Amino acid sequence: MKTLLLPSSEESLSLAADLLRAGELVAFPTETVYGLGADALNAKAVLSIFAAKGRPADNPLIVHIHDRAQLPDLCTVPEAAIPLMDAFWPGPLTILFNRKPAVPSEVTAGLPTVAVRMPSHPVAAAMLKACGLPIAAPSANSSGRPSPTLAAHVLEDLQGKIPLILDGGPCEVGVESTVLDLCHGVPTILRPGGVTKEMLESVLHTEVALAGSILRPLKPDEKALSPGMRYKHYAPKAAVTLVEGEEEAVLARLQDLYRREAEAGRKSCVLCFSEHMDQLRDCRPHDIGSKDHAEEIAHRLFDTLRRLDEEGMETVFSEVVPPEGVGLAVMNRLGRAAAFRTIKA
Ligand code: TXA
Ligand code: MG
Repeated sequence: MKTLLLPSSEESLSLAADLLRAGELVAFPTETVYGLGADALNAKAVLSIFAAKGRPADNPLIVHIHDRAQLPDLCTVPEAAIPLMDAFWPGPLTILFNRKPAVPSEVTAGLPTVAVRMPSHPVAAAMLKACGLPIAAPSANSSGRPSPTLAAHVLEDLQGKIPLILDGGPCEVGVESTVLDLCHGVPTILRPGGVTKEMLESVLHTEVALAGSILRPLKPDEKALSPGMRYKHYAPKAAVTLVEGEEEAVLARLQDLYRREAEAGRKSCVLCFSEHMDQLRDCRPHDIGSKDHAEEIAHRLFDTLRRLDEEGMETVFSEVVPPEGVGLAVMNRLGRAAAFRTIKA
């Protein structure tokens, strides 16, 4: 199959809408990461998403809408969700609702809940409006690779497997949406993202819980609240290790670790804050953004992880950010890329 990569225009949006209505796949930009969309009410179209990505069938998809009027066909909406939708939609917040029978079980992997979000990216909004369908879309990467934040990343993974990629430039947020469960008692973040715990609490006026496995691996007998958490994710081919502790100790340890790798003949590098690029100049430093700006680090993270593969890195050592605000989403993704291997400096 030939894959078209087109800038967004009236013609390309209308082609996207035609393809989606015909049960085909379209990759499109959102404010978080690129998505791989199909008609959410067409089970066969939804199955082709799993095939193109090589995604396990038991990992459910998020349904994307452009208008709240689409909700009653898909799910029931609890009172508590309304102030959240008022505050954060359109935007990087996904909410779990109890599903209605119209939603195929292929979308929800047989779960009684369906995850829904309304993206704010103008190209996503225009495409959803043009096709008039609820669109099921996971991130548009091959399963197991870092999520795509550029159209070029989608092409890298899915060329020849899908008919169309709409190019909307780099994704602003850079990590996937916050997934919030309102269906099981205490509101719980299953996956942290651009809408932070602090932001949710200020609207809900109640404490929001975090799923246990956000900053550590699942235990062997632990049930994943969000099936996606079971899989190794966001991982480059290199063995990544996180280094935490006091700033000076971390810098010394990074230099020491890099030197040992170089002596052992392994291709290695460090991921560090902009502020430390100069001090770590002999350690093949990769700038992850300013230490005081977790949003900037989130924005760059997946592109940085992909570049490690292109450069053929074997081992990578990374600084860490405090797990607060958007820093929690950064540490969840970085932690999983490192399989939670951490050294205390
Ligand atoms: O920002 C995003 O959310 C992007 C863009 C394209 O919208 N999409 C995305 O989709 O990241 P995906 O499939 O890569 O991640 C969806 C996550 C998975 O961890 C999945 O297990 C979880 O949401 N999920 C979906 N439906 C669920 C449900 N009913 N119950 C629990 N978790 C669910
Ligand atoms: Mg994904």
